[in-house]
Amino acid sequence: MAVVTVQASKSYDVLISSGLIEEAGKLVRGVCSGGKALIVSDENVFSLYGEALSRSLEKTGFQVFTFVFPSGEASKTLSTYARILDRLCEVNASRQDVTVALGGGVAGDVAGFAAATYRRGMGFVQVPTSLLAAVDSSVGGKTAVNLEGGKNQAGCFYQPDLVIADTDTLSTLPEEEYRNGCAEIIKYGVLGSRALFESILEKPVREDYARVIEQCVQIKRGLVEQDERDTGKRMLLNLGHTLGHAAEKISGYSIPHGQAVAMGMAAAARAACARSVCGPEVCKEIEEALALYGLPAAFPFTAGETASACLSDKKGDGFSVKMILPEKIGVCRITDIPADELISWLKAGGL
Ligand SMILES: NC(=O)c1ccc[n+]([C@@H]2O[C@H](COP(=O)([O-])OP(=O)(O)OC[C@H]3O[C@@H](n4cnc5c(N)ncnc54)[C@H](O)[C@@H]3O)[C@@H](O)[C@H]2O)c1
Ligand SMILES: [Zn+2]
Repeated sequence: MAVVTVQASKSYDVLISSGLIEEAGKLVRGVCSGGKALIVSDENVFSLYGEALSRSLEKTGFQVFTFVFPSGEASKTLSTYARILDRLCEVNASRQDVTVALGGGVAGDVAGFAAATYRRGMGFVQVPTSLLAAVDSSVGGKTAVNLEGGKNQAGCFYQPDLVIADTDTLSTLPEEEYRNGCAEIIKYGVLGSRALFESILEKPVREDYARVIEQCVQIKRGLVEQDERDTGKRMLLNLGHTLGHAAEKISGYSIPHGQAVAMGMAAAARAACARSVCGPEVCKEIEEALALYGLPAAFPFTAGETASACLSDKKGDGFSVKMILPEKIGVCRITDIPADELISWLKAGGL
């Protein structure tokens, strides 16, 4: 089993291996002194892994409760959040008890926000079952729900007590969700590790889950430990996301996140190359890696509509946009682009 320890405002382990759901009871017991566990999961994931997780928790003496919601981003709402809090109240959970998020980023984000705010913070364990959640959302402590006004507009930082990534769960992941996760993995390679980037060109991610997840988590751990609240270096994780979020928004969220990140990363690389931040071989390598995983490199929107979407993003201030630009594979820089220069940067990126 691989163990990556994150030392942020809380110190916790990320465990990565096959067969971990069977062991979850023992593992959660190691970080939780309470007697009750609330499993928060979506319908798809709960039907696949809910029973095994419940059984394992019960074996170590937990009284197990469940909260299951319809799968998908549409459930990441204040209403789901409030219903989780009501469920915690109903079972009279204490601060020593634990909420266990079983699923992808949606389950992790909404359950984490509820755990962070129920009685000002209770035990919280992440059991990521999507590739994206294993390499990204389950680590680092960002929790959130969406508001009418936009994605992730209400939330807080709340690190988990433990992350249990059972690689067996990835065998049931739909192909599109696999590709979404691979876009984030390519992102990690470009922003932090040439070795990771090369290794996933040589061997498909799905043949090497544990090692790839461990490497991604190590990169994220490094950035979270230096900049937990996302005001500096952690922003490197937004590679492909500045333009990717714009593409998601303009498409009315019909473009899946991973595809949006892929096209955003490729456009950022083209812009970086046009402005001599990197050489043309960097663009070529990124585009080839994306193609290998069935991910798009062309950006399907105009510079004008993309610039408007970028400038209204919650992460910006409306006057400038932070773009993450590759210098070479494994090294990126954060660049502040003033609003009046954005369109020319986007055009340089091929928009
Ligand atoms: N907190 C963070 O740092 C962070 C980082 C990145 C993304 N996110 C958030 O994560 C969310 C996206 O996460 P996601 O892509 O995991 O979405 P998701 O949770 O909706 O999962 C995607 C789909 O895969 C299904 N699924 C998950 N695991 C499965 C399995 N093992 N077998 C079969 N089906 C499975 C789910 O039911 C769902 O239909 C977004 O809301 C995003 O904002 C958060
Ligand atoms: Zn992402």
